[in-house]
Amino acid sequence: MHFELKTNQKKVLQSTSRFTILSAGRRFGKSTIGLLYLLNGDLIPGGRYWFLGPTYRQTRLIAWHLLKGMFRNQPVKMNETNLSVTLPNEAEVRLVGADRPDNLRGSFLNRVVLDEIAYIKPGTFEEVIFPMLGTTKPPGRALFTGTPNGMGPFKKYFDYGNDPNNKDWGSFHFTTLEGGYVPADEVARAKEYLDPRTFSQEYLGTFENYGGQLYYTFKQTPHTADLKHNPNLPIWITADFNKEPMVWEIAQIHDKRLNIIDEIYIRYSAKTHIAVAEFLKRYGNVTNKLVYVTGDASNNYESHRDYTTDYIIIRDALMEKGFRVVVQVPKRNPNINNRINIVCSLLTNGRLTISPKCKQLIDDLNQVESDNKGGKNKEDPARTHSSDALDYLVWRLFSREFFKQTIKQI
Ligand SMILES: Nc1ncnc2c1ncn2[C@@H]1O[C@H](COP(=O)(O)OP(=O)(O)OP(=O)(O)O)[C@@H](O)[C@H]1O
Ligand SMILES: [Mg+2]
Repeated sequence: MHFELKTNQKKVLQSTSRFTILSAGRRFGKSTIGLLYLLNGDLIPGGRYWFLGPTYRQTRLIAWHLLKGMFRNQPVKMNETNLSVTLPNEAEVRLVGADRPDNLRGSFLNRVVLDEIAYIKPGTFEEVIFPMLGTTKPPGRALFTGTPNGMGPFKKYFDYGNDPNNKDWGSFHFTTLEGGYVPADEVARAKEYLDPRTFSQEYLGTFENYGGQLYYTFKQTPHTADLKHNPNLPIWITADFNKEPMVWEIAQIHDKRLNIIDEIYIRYSAKTHIAVAEFLKRYGNVTNKLVYVTGDASNNYESHRDYTTDYIIIRDALMEKGFRVVVQVPKRNPNINNRINIVCSLLTNGRLTISPKCKQLIDDLNQVESDNKGGKNKEDPARTHSSDALDYLVWRLFSREFFKQTIKQI
């Protein structure tokens, strides 16, 4: 394995700070730099050198192959269980996962890399790692590397490093392109498909604030417009089966663009057959009788909700009125973060338009915020249902395209 360092990688390795921070875009070469940092210079007899990642599994996946490659044909002992390499002078290089940070206590360290620091449990460095660096002579050093994820502790370390008063700390920031391992056209493609905030975080290595409006790319103009039902196209129904309220969004797809043309909203004690009746009142006489139905996962074991029968009610009632019905429902609801990113990306790229009739949906897109635990804030009981319905439809229609076209390299 041959490692010819690119200029920007060299700058990080040449850092003289005791604590060095590298915030960089995806595929910059962060993990590789991390390993080279550990092996840089002499490894002192009996010294300990750790490459620490968020979990044991992930760390093994990221770095074990690479580490073994770096020591190929050298007189070292490799231990596949410990993920360690022991040199003839008893210096040990080891991969470690921070699954349970407290289990890591009880050792000293000469040098450590905290890879993917944004995903390592907060406090791991201060409470567990830092004391281990204090008992060696000279005191141990650390490199923190990662692509940012929101505004957590990684941002704090990065800011320390940029403050000239903190003599021990030094920060570096590079974009994916500045790494030199991902071609410009691949980055341009990612920019086209990702929402701007995610693109900036992942490819420019910036710290983005994910608070506030979740569907942050939504703007009344240009994303709302009077949309008429197109009689030649099939209809999509996407449903959120909450009972108070129940919301369905009615959509059509035109030239790869998604138009949300209407909304059925039942505020209190909603029953699925009432929503079906409302749908038939509005669309019972359309000429194109093909209807696709999607929505909430049919059977969500975690919350013991089961909507199987609701989908059957819809299917049978519509078929009775001469519709052809295709029900396409996911087994599990998709991850919230991923589905919101796809909605935001469609909005940015002018592929999602919403009729002003969809009042609940527009309120959701304007108002829904994060609960800071990876979900939507549900304090207002009226909110989140219509945007959930939209998410499910968008996920069904565009997630494959999104993943295929963008993050090939992950
Ligand atoms: N010095 C180098 N010499 C040769 N190849 C390199 C070097 N540095 C990085 N690479 C290659 O670039 C790619 C990305 O490297 P690496 O996995 O270190 O990046 P990363 O920033 O940690 O990526 P991720 O964001 O996925 O964690 C890998 O295929 C790696 O082999
Ligand atoms: Mg990496």
